[in-house]
Amino acid sequence: MTPQETGSIEIYRQRIEELHNLPTVPVIATQLLEIISEDRASVKQLLPIIENDPSLAIKILRVANSAYYGLFKNIDSLQQAVVLIGLSDLYNLVLGFSVIKSFSQHMENSYTLDWNYFWGHCVAVGSIAQLIKTEYRLPMIGNPYALGLLHDIGKLVLFQIVRPEFMEALKIQEERKVSAVEAEMETIGMDHALAGALLAERWHLPDSVIVTMSHHHKIVPEESEYRGIISLITVADYLSHRMKKGFLNHYAEATDVITDAWNRLRAHYPQLGALTLEQLEQIVIEKMPPTEELLAVTRS
Ligand SMILES: [Fe+2]
Ligand SMILES: [Fe+2]
Repeated sequence: MTPQETGSIEIYRQRIEELHNLPTVPVIATQLLEIISEDRASVKQLLPIIENDPSLAIKILRVANSAYYGLFKNIDSLQQAVVLIGLSDLYNLVLGFSVIKSFSQHMENSYTLDWNYFWGHCVAVGSIAQLIKTEYRLPMIGNPYALGLLHDIGKLVLFQIVRPEFMEALKIQEERKVSAVEAEMETIGMDHALAGALLAERWHLPDSVIVTMSHHHKIVPEESEYRGIISLITVADYLSHRMKKGFLNHYAEATDVITDAWNRLRAHYPQLGALTLEQLEQIVIEKMPPTEELLAVTRS
């Protein structure tokens, strides 16, 4: 990175710091994080907080019952759902739902751009990642559905802080069939991955969220403890484009970053055996239920 580029990123960081028209970090997410970071956090402490927000409680129940969790049980109590999902996954989910809700309300009337495609893409990436995790029983830090929901939030940040340049980047992607990162670097000098990570830092979100956002279009650092989840989100993002569930464009080239993420994922999880990325794509296409209902629930 040249000194000039570093300088412009500092300016953007400043702009994100000064932004008043971005939603603040949801209170409920902060409350849950406090409980979860205690040594003896229990479901008993969590339940009243979630029950206090009926629409959140319904979302958690619906997600627990969705095919992506693969629990194959009819879960009708919130307590059961919370126990099955687990405390840290639950925190990620609540965070994902709350951030989507506040951004969703916030963005609704701000422009004629159809954000439905954006949210559809985020839900698709989360669903694909969750499906792969469940199908191959991959243990990992971070909840794939929630991190998929959040991975591209930086696009909303860019839309807020450098709107004309962001719109120009969208146009370039359509016209030249290049990736979002390439177009954003050309018009803005910073990509949505970094913009999202800067916002996540400002909100003091967990490292798993910050790192997944900042690295989902980059070669995954070998030593990172989050390499499992980062690679999974990168692969799910690629597959969502292959399945025509991208945001506005369907750029789906298996670049070095995608190949690296896939190799990294296979090296990290022997469960994947000799599976190829093409075979994984077929499995996801066959097993993925429609995401429309999940999208409606997530955005409600
Ligand atoms: Fe992205
Ligand atoms: Fe994406």
